[in-house]
Amino acid sequence: MKEDTIDRRRFIGKASAAAVIAAFSSIKTSYAKDLVSLANRSGVRDRYILSREEYLLDPDITYFNHASIGTIPKLLHRTHKAYIDLCEKNPWLYTWGEPWDKERTKTRKKLAEFVGCEPGELALTHNTTEGFNVLANGLPLTENDEVVFSTLNHPGASECWFHHAMAAGYSINRFEFPIRDVPDLSEDDIVSIYAEHITEKTRVLVFPHIDNLVGIRYPIEKMVQMARENGVEFIAVDGAQALGMVPIDLQDLGVDFYAMSPHKWLQAPKGTGLLYIRKAIRDQLEPLWVTWGQNRWKGTVRIFEDYGTRNLASVLALGDAVDFQIKFDVNNSVERRKELRAYFFQALENDPNIEWRSPRSWELGSSLYTIEVKGQDSQELFKKLYEQHGYVFRAFKADNWNTLRVSLNTFNTLKEIDTLVELLS
Ligand SMILES: Cc1ncc(COP(=O)(O)O)c(C=O)c1O
Repeated sequence: MKEDTIDRRRFIGKASAAAVIAAFSSIKTSYAKDLVSLANRSGVRDRYILSREEYLLDPDITYFNHASIGTIPKLLHRTHKAYIDLCEKNPWLYTWGEPWDKERTKTRKKLAEFVGCEPGELALTHNTTEGFNVLANGLPLTENDEVVFSTLNHPGASECWFHHAMAAGYSINRFEFPIRDVPDLSEDDIVSIYAEHITEKTRVLVFPHIDNLVGIRYPIEKMVQMARENGVEFIAVDGAQALGMVPIDLQDLGVDFYAMSPHKWLQAPKGTGLLYIRKAIRDQLEPLWVTWGQNRWKGTVRIFEDYGTRNLASVLALGDAVDFQIKFDVNNSVERRKELRAYFFQALENDPNIEWRSPRSWELGSSLYTIEVKGQDSQELFKKLYEQHGYVFRAFKADNWNTLRVSLNTFNTLKEIDTLVELLS
């Protein structure tokens, strides 16, 4: 190859590396600046109120379904799109090159701080379901072992165990959670319900931090204590609904695994997930994916997340979603959602046609709650309220269950609740 061609290539390499860094840091700077001005404009110093105008939601709908899937703020969406555009300018560089690999490391560190663990304990997955697939496939379980969970587990944290149990030979003990008793249960009742189903064979216990049907907030420390006293070796918690809804400190919780879906309450881009794996037991877990990285990432948490080419733009925007939450103060957000819950509860409390099916207290409950409207089919009711009034929430129907679940985030309003209550009465 001619000298001048090589020099020219070197030149292009250097020039484009400089342009890359400039373009990326300009997106980051704009985001940081816009975040500050948004926070100031929203009066965040007094109290958290970020209006729905800051989101892309269709004006014809009222969104009460953050537990199914969240919506991301316009500012974050714009930043995410800017990363995607930048990536398209040199896809090889941004997918496999150093600039965004370093950013991935920074993002992991930021996320780890946010959930209270070490960066080396946090895999950047795509959702909670993937996290549980890693566990059901990779834990060293044999014919003598049993996995215990209740019917309050979401299928994303249950189905994979049934599938892998067939090949590995371990057994599953899924028991019926007394869901109709929920409003009258105490923390200790919940712990006892699980304790009753643990046997000598139980090696894994799975439960949600916050379940998706009635929104119980599990007393995790008490659950962990009970499980350890009963000889359970692996405690896996489904944090899909908790991340971004309530503060999480994994070190304090004492669990072994904790899977998360930031695309719900953290308002991060869709298809972003996290899996906490306690460092001390990481080496007992086999990776799910077998890729070119199997030797390179051996002994690190990255072996549980890399299955080839991935969209790093969304990973970077996930880190920005954490900045967003911190800027708007996680505790303020909790207070706001608590206020919305109390308002909804009080509005329906004396309605003879409505049965509250979630925990009564905020401490044992959460930002997702469930009601039964007597004499009405929940699915029909949802269809009517959606098609005629634009309300988006979830209806659940089973043999002994006929409910509506609402899940409100900070930008929902008391007026939106008033209208729904009127429509229900
Ligand atoms: C408690 C719970 N676990 C797991 C999931 C599955 O989440 P994902 O589809 O993001 O894996 C959900 C989704 O609604 C959920 O509510």
